Amino acid sequence: MLELARTVRFCLDDPRHAGAPPPRHNAFSAWPPMRGLGRYYQLLVVCRGEADPLTGYFINITHIDEAVRQAVIPSLAAALADAASDAGGTPGTPMGQLMRRLARAFPEPIGSALWRLGLDLSPHLSLHIGTADMDHVLLRQQFEFSAAHRLHVPQYSDEENRRIFGKCNNPAGHGHNYRLEVVVRSKIDAKGHVVPVEAVDALVDQAAVQKLDHKHLNIDVPQFAKLNPSVENIAKVIHDMLCAPLKEKLGVELAEVSVWETAKTVCTYRGE
Ligand code: NI
Repeated sequence: MLELARTVRFCLDDPRHAGAPPPRHNAFSAWPPMRGLGRYYQLLVVCRGEADPLTGYFINITHIDEAVRQAVIPSLAAALADAASDAGGTPGTPMGQLMRRLARAFPEPIGSALWRLGLDLSPHLSLHIGTADMDHVLLRQQFEFSAAHRLHVPQYSDEENRRIFGKCNNPAGHGHNYRLEVVVRSKIDAKGHVVPVEAVDALVDQAAVQKLDHKHLNIDVPQFAKLNPSVENIAKVIHDMLCAPLKEKLGVELAEVSVWETAKTVCTYRGE
């Protein structure tokens, strides 16, 4: 079984720039392109299946691009118009509608190969839905915090600590600008909404970010009093901080926590 992911970037026009879109010269950036103060979206389309033994193709990516532009853009524009009159909840039903319309826009049998959609609403916020779980949406939101830490194991000698942790064992500590991504699984409610993004933002800020931001993890954060604050342990501690409050206060399941210690190092914990 193969999994093929294709990203399609497009814009919904600023209403002052109505009319046929200009020629397609730069679909890398977006097509239809940005005109005026329009809205930019990025859609991830993931399909699963087997490659044709002759062409080596499982699905022709130009079919994905065309299906997205024919089926998704009008659907998203209509959902956007509806949202203006329904108090602007986080859209759940539109994600399901996008999936169904996109599947219909693909020529069979590849329509049934559609596996997952991810809609980036911003570079740091996205909604995902999968054919195996059409009643729920995964909401991915990113945060940041700055903190100092020292990697040190008291059971080891100073020499052993320096050998294992190198510069990260510096006695006075050192700092990182951490990036945090939280993924929650939220049921689509009767109104077609999922958990409000602002509620997730507030809870994660209060239950995790404020407890870590501008702190020395080893000294200020009780969870690290006897636990080495590696990026692995930070991801697990944040998962523990968020799991119960998200369930109890917002009724959503914490699916995943990822922590970037640098742009090159990220650790993900799913509670498994
Ligand atoms: Ni470090």
